[in-house]
Amino acid sequence: MNLVKPVAADRLPALLRLMPKAELHIHIEGSLEPELIFALARRNGVALPYASVDALRSAYAFTNLQSFLDIYYAGASVLLTEQDFYDMARAYLLKAAQDNVIHTELFFDPQTHTARGVPMETVINGLHRACVDAQAEMGVSASLILCFLRHLSEEDAFETLEQALPFQDKFIGIGLDSGEVGNPPEKFARVFARCRELGFHLVAHAGEEGPPAYVWTALDVLKVERIDHGVQSSRDALLMQRLAQDRIALTVCPLSNLKLCVFPDLASHNLRQLLDAGLAATVNSDDPAYFGGYMNENFTQTFAAGPFNAEHAYRLARNSFEASFIDEAAKARHIGRLDETFATFQ
Ligand code: ADE
Ligand code: ZN
Repeated sequence: MNLVKPVAADRLPALLRLMPKAELHIHIEGSLEPELIFALARRNGVALPYASVDALRSAYAFTNLQSFLDIYYAGASVLLTEQDFYDMARAYLLKAAQDNVIHTELFFDPQTHTARGVPMETVINGLHRACVDAQAEMGVSASLILCFLRHLSEEDAFETLEQALPFQDKFIGIGLDSGEVGNPPEKFARVFARCRELGFHLVAHAGEEGPPAYVWTALDVLKVERIDHGVQSSRDALLMQRLAQDRIALTVCPLSNLKLCVFPDLASHNLRQLLDAGLAATVNSDDPAYFGGYMNENFTQTFAAGPFNAEHAYRLARNSFEASFIDEAAKARHIGRLDETFATFQ
C-alpha cells in the first residue's frame, strides 16, 4: 500500500492505538510493575528496601541510564521461580495484546538471575511458556532474545551462552544491553561471532548514550541485524547513510529516552529526523513499567509532541513488521492486516 489517507489530528491517537504493530525492544524485567514486585517479594519472602509501592514508584526519577539500571536490577531480585518469570511475561503480554501488538520479541537478562543462584532453566522455561500461551490465548506471537550484560566480561557472556545452549530452541536471538558508555560492542566480538555461527539473530544496544562509533562497531564487528536505540547516529552523516542504505532498523524508545534524559523533551526527539533520512525506525517501550508507558503510550505521546501524521504511523508500524525476525509469510500477513486497518479507518 502506498497511499495513506489523511487522518484528522484528533483521530490520530485512535488510529495509533488500533493499528496492528510489533514490539522489538522490550526488556521483560523492565515490565515488572511495582505492584507485581511487591506481590512477588511477599510470595518469595524477599525483603525490599522500599516501604510501599508508592515509595518504590517515587524512586523512579532517573538522571541517566545508570541511575535507572541500579533500581531495575534491584527490582528483578524478587524473581525466583519459574512461575515468577511466567507471571511477569504474561502480565506484559496481556498489556501488549491490549495495545494491538500482534508480534513481540522480548529481551531477557539471564545474568541478572543466574548471578543470584536462579537456574538458567527456571528463567527460560517460565518466559517461554508465557510466550507459547500468548499465541494460543491472545493471538500474540512472542519470541525471546537473550541479552548479555555489557558491564560484565566477555568470559561471563561465554559462560552464560554455555548455560543457555541446552535451551537454544526456546530463544531466537542474542542482544547486548546494560551500561553502554565504556563498554563498546567490540568487547564482545568473539562471543557474538560464536552466536552467529550458531545461527542466532543478533542485535545490540548502541548509540543510546554512547557515540556513533559504537553503532559502527555493532554493525561491522558484531554484525548485528538491528540497532537498539541508535538515536545518537544522527550525529554522523555517513552512519545515517549506511543505516538507510542497508535498511538496518533502529528500535527507538521515545519515553525511555525522555525518562533517561537522552532528550530534554519529546518535542526535541529526533525520531522524525531519522524517518526523514530514510531510516527504518520503529517505536518501542524499552522498560515500560519504569518509563511511564507501554506501546500505545509511546506512540500517542510521541505523535502529540511532534510533526507526525498518518503516513508516519503507517511507516513505523510497517517497519516494525519488516524488521522483525518472523518469516516472510507472517510478515506479509501482518502487513496485510495493517493495510486493512488503514484502508477502513474512519
Ligand atoms: N536494560 C534495560 N533497559 C536498558 C536500556 N535502556 N539500555 C541498556 N540496557 C538496558
Ligand atoms: Zn533497551
